[in-house]
Amino acid sequence: MSTPIAALDLGTTKTCALIAEMTDTGTLRILGAGISASRGLRKGVVTDVKEASHSIVAAVEQAERVSGFKIEAVHVGIAGAHIQSTNSRGVAAIHNGRGVAQDDIDRAMEAAEAIAVPHNREIIHAIPRGYTLDGQDGVKDPLGMIGFRLEVEAHIVTGSAASIQNLIKAVEGAGLKVSGVVLEPIAAGEAVLTSAEKEMGVLLADIGGGTTDIGVFIDGSIWHTMVLPTGGIHVTNDLAVGLRTPFSAAEEMKIKYGQADPTLVAEDEMIDVAAFGEEGRRTVSRREVAEIIRARVDEICQLILTEVKRSGYDNLLPAGVVLCGGTAELAGMKAFAREALQMPVRLGTPRDIEGFTDRVSSPAFATSVGLAAWGWKESAVQARVAPPHGGRPAANPLGGLVGWAKRAFLPG
Ligand SMILES: Nc1ncnc2c1ncn2[C@@H]1O[C@H](COP(=O)(O)OP(=O)(O)OP(=O)(O)O)[C@@H](O)[C@H]1O
Ligand SMILES: [Mg+2]
Repeated sequence: MSTPIAALDLGTTKTCALIAEMTDTGTLRILGAGISASRGLRKGVVTDVKEASHSIVAAVEQAERVSGFKIEAVHVGIAGAHIQSTNSRGVAAIHNGRGVAQDDIDRAMEAAEAIAVPHNREIIHAIPRGYTLDGQDGVKDPLGMIGFRLEVEAHIVTGSAASIQNLIKAVEGAGLKVSGVVLEPIAAGEAVLTSAEKEMGVLLADIGGGTTDIGVFIDGSIWHTMVLPTGGIHVTNDLAVGLRTPFSAAEEMKIKYGQADPTLVAEDEMIDVAAFGEEGRRTVSRREVAEIIRARVDEICQLILTEVKRSGYDNLLPAGVVLCGGTAELAGMKAFAREALQMPVRLGTPRDIEGFTDRVSSPAFATSVGLAAWGWKESAVQARVAPPHGGRPAANPLGGLVGWAKRAFLPG
């Protein structure tokens, strides 16, 4: 059994704090989950540090109450249109004849990380995708292998320094340390994808409230990442404007009667708007609701398609698309995406979890669960080697491992 880890998913609509531990069989046991409505975020980015801190405190308190653990440091997710990713190569000469040492791998990674990063941007991840040793590519773990020239292919993710700092400030404002900053689609991939899908080539699309996060996984590792600033909030906004109804009524209507494919809705089916808190009797056509939804969902799918084509990996994805995020739960979404993207599509729910899973077992919590899984992996790596690769170095790199104190269960 491992030391518990804490994850914080600061989504545009909901904030989720998780406390979990990794079992000996590799299952993530959820010890406590806390969920609050997010405030102070727009399109995945913190725009009001104080408000965001309040949402964090609310979620963290719940998770602490349920688990009986106190959270001191978290792995927090990051998203937003400021995120950029690129692939880079680094080389290191191996001097001794005893084979590749950890230090050689670190030097190759350092070389790959030495890309020109403008002063207003920071590297969030430098993840090794694979190694080439003396011209032999496809090496997954070169440690101990004999060779003279080690090359690494790395996926580098950068973000705006200001956005990263505001996220950290929001977490610190809630009285917590940041033990790692993790790109949300990378986290979501940890939670919902199978190793077979990642090996074959798969596209992950987390369609949330304010953003659609994309990850392309090939040969077992991440090749491309992107955050698009559109999600379920835009669907609800379109309904609110189109039906002249408040946002909250439109949101409820979307969840209860929403459908991505209008042809599946009877032409004469009407929805009573009064049921959503509006005064007076008014009805709207459910077909019309579906038409409005379809237009926006189609736009999101086209954005995904354009991005995948731009990455150049569109022909390397035989495992198709895995959809997660709250908007993936929209009725008819899977079939619609299959048509629009012309790829096999499945819905991704968090895999390999046990314990208090009832609140986090839907596609909307893929990122939250993935952050905990990633946090655990990173803590394990940090315990083995230093410096760590694959995550933005935190002020206290072992923050996820230290500072844990089991405390008495506090009622209420
Ligand atoms: N059953 C459902 N049908 C349709 N939409 C749904 C359903 N459940 C949730 N949603 C939508 O999913 C969105 C929230 O998804 P999610 O919780 O993944 O977003 P988030 O993590 O808060 O935001 P983001 O990741 O974009 O910053 C909301 O727009 C909500 O309306
Ligand atoms: Mg999210």
